[in-house]
Amino acid sequence: MKKKVLVTEPIPFHVKELLEREVEVELWEQADQMPRELLLKKITDKHGLITSKDQIDEELIKHAPVLEAVSNISVGYDNFDVQALKENNILATHTPYVLDETVADLIFGLIISTARRIPELDRYVKEGNWTHSIDTPMFGDNVHHKKLGIIGMGRIGEKVARRARLGFEMEVSYYNRNRKEEVETKYDVYYEDFQSLIATSDFILLMTPLTNETYHLIDKDAFENMKESCFFINASRGAVVNESALIAALEQKQIRGAGLDVFTQEPVDISNPLLKMNNVVTLPHVGSATAETRDEMKQFTAESMLKCLQGDKPESLIKELK
Ligand code: DGY
Repeated sequence: MKKKVLVTEPIPFHVKELLEREVEVELWEQADQMPRELLLKKITDKHGLITSKDQIDEELIKHAPVLEAVSNISVGYDNFDVQALKENNILATHTPYVLDETVADLIFGLIISTARRIPELDRYVKEGNWTHSIDTPMFGDNVHHKKLGIIGMGRIGEKVARRARLGFEMEVSYYNRNRKEEVETKYDVYYEDFQSLIATSDFILLMTPLTNETYHLIDKDAFENMKESCFFINASRGAVVNESALIAALEQKQIRGAGLDVFTQEPVDISNPLLKMNNVVTLPHVGSATAETRDEMKQFTAESMLKCLQGDKPESLIKELK
C-alpha cells in the first residue's frame, strides 16, 4: 500500500505527478491556509506533510501517529518545533540552495528601492506631481561604495555580499555566530562584532533565522546605536526585530529608512504605522517569489519528501537532524 502525503500548499501539476508515482497525495488547493482543526483531522493517517506555514508542534505530532516526515517549502523553518520532531523521530526538510540567488536579487532590490526612494518617486510621477525637476528634499542616497553590514552570513548572505562587492564596490562586513574565514577570503568581506557593525554600517541587512536566541535581536538599543543615515533591511523574519522599537526609531529619525520583506504579523495589518511611512519600503514576504524559483522549490521539496519516505536522509534535511 502506498504511503499518504498531505500537501497544504498549491503545487504545479508536474510536482503532483512526481509525488503520485510513489505516494497517495491529498491536496489543499485553496488560497487560504488550511484551518488548523482540519489539518489536525487530516494528518491522522498521513506519513508525510508538505507545508510552508503550518505550525508543526507537539499538538500536531500527537494527532499524527504515522507521520515520518515534514517538508517546508521555504528555507526558514521557524514554524517547526525541532525538539518535538527530534523526540518523535520525524524527519524534516527545507529548501536551501534553490532560492539563494533569487532572494539575494530581491534584497538588492530592497536596498536600492529604499535608498533611492523608488516606490515613493513612482507614486510621485503617477499621481501627476512631476511638473518640474525634483529638488533636494526628494533626493535619495548612494548605495555604491557605502558600507553594508550583514547580520547572519548564510548562503543568501554570501550571494548578497558578492553582489555588493562586485557590482557596487561596497565595503561589506558581517556578524555571525560562527566566523566564516572561507567566505571572507572568497568575497573579500570581514567579520565584525555586533556592536561595531550596528554602529558603523550605512546599510544593515538582517538575514539571521528566527530562533529562541535571535528573537528581538534588533531592539531599542540596537536602533539607538545605528547611524542616523542608516537604512535597515530585513528579509529574514519579522520577529528577529522588535517592531515597536523599529517604528519608534523611524518616528524619531534615529535611522534614515527601512526596507522590509517580513513583519511580526503576516499578512501585515493595514493599521501598522510602518505602512504609512514614506521612508519605509514594504513587500509581502516575496524573497523567493519568482515563478521559476517557487516551482523549483516545490519540486525540490517533493523530491526531499520522497527520499525521506524511502528511508533516505536528503541533503535538505534541517541541520539539527543531520
Ligand atoms: C524563506 O524561504 O524562508 C524565505 O523567507 C524566502 O522568501
